[in-house]
Amino acid sequence: MLKPRMWPNRSKSTSPDALLPDTDGRLPERAQKPFDCTPVGILLTVKFTKLSTSQTPGKASNGEVGKALRGKAKQLYATDDPEVLWVEYKNSATAGDGEKKEDFAGKGRLNNLITTLIFDLLKKRGIDSHLVARVGETSQLVKKVTMFPLEIVLRNTAAGHFCSRLGVEEGIELKEPVLEYFLKNDDLHDPFVNDDDLVALGVCTREDLAEIAPLARRINEALIEIFAKIGIKLVDFKIEMGRTPDGTLLLADEITPDSCRLWDQRDGSGKVEHLDKDLFRRDLGDIIPAYEEVESRLAELAKSEGIEVAE
Ligand code: TMP
Ligand code: ASP
Repeated sequence: MLKPRMWPNRSKSTSPDALLPDTDGRLPERAQKPFDCTPVGILLTVKFTKLSTSQTPGKASNGEVGKALRGKAKQLYATDDPEVLWVEYKNSATAGDGEKKEDFAGKGRLNNLITTLIFDLLKKRGIDSHLVARVGETSQLVKKVTMFPLEIVLRNTAAGHFCSRLGVEEGIELKEPVLEYFLKNDDLHDPFVNDDDLVALGVCTREDLAEIAPLARRINEALIEIFAKIGIKLVDFKIEMGRTPDGTLLLADEITPDSCRLWDQRDGSGKVEHLDKDLFRRDLGDIIPAYEEVESRLAELAKSEGIEVAE
């Protein structure tokens, strides 16, 4: 059975590596262990022959109930393949360090579809991810990777914390993309860190960063192009990465309107139309129609590129 060695205690994340261990087979209620700057390790291998939609979450091959790891927007389970995890997308949305929380019917299904479409579109552009397969309305199988306890943020247009931190107006185009790292540490509210901090703390090495940064920038370029094709401006986004047992660096976690700022460009008015979780963060309206719009545009693009799309 999979046993996470160390999990970050992080309240803000929507990611699987923010999911918390339980000790008795039941779902945990809250974080138990503080993050100690040790990169988080767990994960999987993917044996494609073993994959099937009959694989059930939480059941190991010995019949024991697997570890269930819970985050705010996703839940992670062991499968009977030690190299594969089962991800379950939930309907909950949180903001402000989890202070604000609400359930939106259909959000889990939409985010599962959207992440799958984006990872498939990235794959077509030569960027691999931990995704193995979407196996149900709200579920995916993913490769088990050792996650870096980092939120990797790319910004193309000023918004959110970039504006509050630097006193600039939202919507200003940045002269070049900005790459930022945030350390996953709940108690410190995921602090902003630089390369030296990460190396000094042993979170990652210079060599890791020399791989992570260019991959993050390539993902940004690819996502800008993907979203531009469907009339959406990619303002900023957050991604996470991990390493497979053989050391390959992979894009992991999710890419959804929870983790991106997406501004609709189709009406041409220049007015900001959010197609992302800012609708919820800022009480601007229902997120579901916006997420549906993102999903349907991505699905259309994917189909046009010959990618198999769930109906
Ligand atoms: P920020 O402006 O709040 O730092 O957010 C930058 C991007 O990162 C934005 O697209 C939303 C995303 N994000 C997450 O995915 N998770 C988080 O916990 C936070 C704070 C931001
Ligand atoms: N996901 C974070 C939270 O749960 C914050 C955010 O996305 O804005 O609070």
